[in-house]
Amino acid sequence: MVKRTVAWAPVCVGLTASLGLALGGCHSRPPLTPQEAEGKHLYQIRCAHCHEDNDQELKKIPPDLHGIFDRRTLLSGAPATDMAVRQIVFTGKGMMPAFAGRFTDEQMAALLAYLHTELR
Ligand code: HEC
Repeated sequence: MVKRTVAWAPVCVGLTASLGLALGGCHSRPPLTPQEAEGKHLYQIRCAHCHEDNDQELKKIPPDLHGIFDRRTLLSGAPATDMAVRQIVFTGKGMMPAFAGRFTDEQMAALLAYLHTELR
């Protein structure tokens, strides 16, 4: 039996290369925008160690932030809006530290943009 291999990969590589975006291989989803990519970087260095790895072994396990904006409310019951999430990041909550003064407005906007991508 002859297997037919569909040559999508080179097409994808060519496309992403010609767009100048070597981000995350080629899936059906569009690549992250530069702003989302910046947010991803910030998330990975500032948030993921707790929210994905819980490296400090906190008793209250940092909640999963995937699809946080798909939920109607945050754990606190507050509506899952940019404003509410920004507030938590600025002021901290429980064992989560406050990040006030540690992100510029642009960085905060990038972080929120990335959280809206469901962390891909
Ligand atoms: C030291 C570990 C730690 C770090 C670092 C941290 N968090 Fe958290 N985060 C927590 C914990 C613990 C909670 C739960 C707080 C509570 O409800 O008592 C939380 C809660 C949250 C919530 C509320 C989620 C919900 O559904 O109510 C958001 C949003 C959030 N964090 C975003 C972030 C972002 C964005 C970053 C990076 C800028 C970050 N956190 C960094 C530990 C952390």
